[in-house]
Amino acid sequence: MNIEELRARLEEANQGHLLRYWDQLSDQEKLQLYNELSHQDFNEINEFYKTVMENVSAASKKLNDVIEPLPKEVCGRVVNTGPETLSQYNNSGLKKIGESRVAVLLLAGGQGTRLGVPYPKGMYDVGLPSGKTLYQIQAEKLLKLQRLGESVTGNSCKIPWYIMTSEHSKQSTQDFFQKHKYFGLQEDDVILFEQNLLPCIGFDGKIILEKPHKVALSPAGNGGLYRALHHNGVLKDMESREIEYIHVYSVDNILVKMADPVFIGFCISRGANCGAKVVEKTFPTEAVGVVCKVEGKYQVVEYSEITLKTAGKRDCNGRLVFNAGNICNHFFTLDFLKFVSEPSQERLLKHHVAKKKIPHVSDKDCRQTTQPGSPNGIKMEKFVFDVFLLSSSFAVWEVIREDEFAPLKNADTADKDTPTTCRRALLNLHHRYLIGAGAEFVYTDGTKISHIPSQKGEDEALFVESEISPLVSYAGEGLNELVEGRKFVSPVYINQDFTMDKPKIVDG
Ligand code: UTP
Repeated sequence: MNIEELRARLEEANQGHLLRYWDQLSDQEKLQLYNELSHQDFNEINEFYKTVMENVSAASKKLNDVIEPLPKEVCGRVVNTGPETLSQYNNSGLKKIGESRVAVLLLAGGQGTRLGVPYPKGMYDVGLPSGKTLYQIQAEKLLKLQRLGESVTGNSCKIPWYIMTSEHSKQSTQDFFQKHKYFGLQEDDVILFEQNLLPCIGFDGKIILEKPHKVALSPAGNGGLYRALHHNGVLKDMESREIEYIHVYSVDNILVKMADPVFIGFCISRGANCGAKVVEKTFPTEAVGVVCKVEGKYQVVEYSEITLKTAGKRDCNGRLVFNAGNICNHFFTLDFLKFVSEPSQERLLKHHVAKKKIPHVSDKDCRQTTQPGSPNGIKMEKFVFDVFLLSSSFAVWEVIREDEFAPLKNADTADKDTPTTCRRALLNLHHRYLIGAGAEFVYTDGTKISHIPSQKGEDEALFVESEISPLVSYAGEGLNELVEGRKFVSPVYINQDFTMDKPKIVDG
């Protein structure tokens, strides 16, 4: 430990207060604080803070004048695309999957503070009949998709799964996958890596201490991906596997279609190096970022960054002009990922500011950690979509929200994006898959249930529970031979695991 050198660096960066408890710390605490501080670049952090605060005041003023909707030629919509074209996209995506040219990359470095559980979100079970966690659902989707890819090429294939965690979640995620034997995936194909953390900063520009021997740190946003890719050898691993396309997504969308062949096929058909899957934003005040153009560059603009007048603009068909709702579902070519992860490019991505209540050490409370009642500082974050502005060939694919987007953000005390809304969204989708495949649902007395139940829960009595293992069907395909013309009493569970050679249907 060279404490004098560290002290000098801190003083020079105007962050000397971080050592104010030094003399009162135990040897172990000294070591912990020293390790935390010694690898930080304080001048860089000060620079981030300065730029981020300047941008906050500059940005909001001009956005309304320079925001433009997406040009038609970069957009495709599932509802406007005929079955033949959809099938072409699907086949082209599946072919690339079958050739082992596609990887998926999960952003799981967040803290999940709104959900409020003490373990990573991917380990959450929303209460499905199967009791599956988000991670298990995703692993099974990958296994199934590998089989679908293999059926196109006739060769065995792999879809490597890169999982970005952070200091808070890496070990528990690793242990979880080991405990569950990687849900049938090859251990080598599940690659965990860690994103970096950044200090939280008070409104006076000073780094906040959470404890006398601990800096308040938080993950640097899901845009921390690009630095992490560069520093963890992930891009090299992708290269050695000859990956061409990467699907990046967030952990919390229970309906996520990982490596969706249709999305991949669409982006390939457009020659895109970067793509976003979106859902239609339905009302002006809906709290969703929209993909658009700003000063000629692709960008995601949050609702709070524009006026209600801009957010509420409608076209001649009555659709919102800024309607491409971002759902953190992205396509990248490996070449593009390599380009944007270069330090010279990554540095161009600006930090965003989130004002937060940051627990901090308080002298008043005998150096205990205090939870403030109002925001006392900022967290600086980069976002994964910030690289859109670096894309020269961009594509946007709009999908149906009910089929593809149900995020888990909050605990059940909230009214949206909760375990209950996620569970219902998945059960509802699977019910529709079964009806689409020719199944019929009846009450126990044999009378037909004719409604597609609402997800809102007013008609709980009609709520049909259907769950289909992703190992049986990735997105509703292959069900006809199992269910066509058959009657089912809710709940229905169509299951298959890697020990079973054919699916098992349990109902009633
Ligand atoms: P959210 O912004 O919803 O954050 O992340 P969160 O951490 O899940 O939840 P809150 O805001 O603390 O309640 C969207 C996606 O980005 C990932 C999350 O894991 C999630 O998949 N993420 C977020 C990261 O990978 N790193 C981060 O630093 C932040």
